[in-house]
Amino acid sequence: DLLKDIEGLSGKEEMIQKYLNIKKVIIVPGDCDEDPSVLGEMGRAAASYCKTIMYDNISIALTGGNSIKAVVDNFDIYTKYKDILVLPARGGIGKKVEIQSNTLAAELSNKLNGNYKLLYAPDNMSGIALETMLKEKSICETIEKIRETDILVYGIGRADEMAKRRELEAETIEQLHNLGAVGEAFGIYFNKNGSTVYCTPTIGIQGEDLEKIEHLIAIAGGKQKSEAIISVERGRKKSVLVIDQGCANEIMNII
Ligand code: G3H
Repeated sequence: DLLKDIEGLSGKEEMIQKYLNIKKVIIVPGDCDEDPSVLGEMGRAAASYCKTIMYDNISIALTGGNSIKAVVDNFDIYTKYKDILVLPARGGIGKKVEIQSNTLAAELSNKLNGNYKLLYAPDNMSGIALETMLKEKSICETIEKIRETDILVYGIGRADEMAKRRELEAETIEQLHNLGAVGEAFGIYFNKNGSTVYCTPTIGIQGEDLEKIEHLIAIAGGKQKSEAIISVERGRKKSVLVIDQGCANEIMNII
């Protein structure tokens, strides 16, 4: 904290927190674009914060992505609380198994000596496939637990990058562009003003669930994500945002 004061980070944390109208901002020194170890430090900071809000029987839902992987990798073995349930936030089986939410949920649950449930569903499901899956009792039970999670830990991506990573069709990519999508989190795309412009059809957390979730923890770093972060976080009152200094400086330039 002393280091933060010297570098003026505490002041920036407060300014960004007020500007976005969120609960808390944690700035990690450095720039993860230039130094990959900074992402690890961001993960550690998010994990430390998460520990301060945990209790017995709590449920934690995670999205996928490299930033959330950094949280899980930097969570130490922590068995203070009993019966913790870790869940993937959404379906969303992509190509890279290492950063899928299912994988990360299972890994975190091991570190917490907790339990986990998995969702085997791709992003971009057709209406018929969604309906059929929702007839399955075990899937419904898991979805219910996800939608009522106590903590949601999520990454934030640039809309253009995420559309590519999710291999959306050219038509949808163009649609997103026309809608002014700049940021993406938990399968939802947001415009500059923080309004939802598009939702990826899949099972798990839906936009309307976010209001009811007690604790939101967002992790995102790097200058190129600053606009995306603003779009996703604006007015998200229960959110704690972990960013790096590079990104914080860029956000300060925008605001
Ligand atoms: O939804 C956004 C992504 O989870 C961000 O992924 O952490 O790999 O950049 P990333």
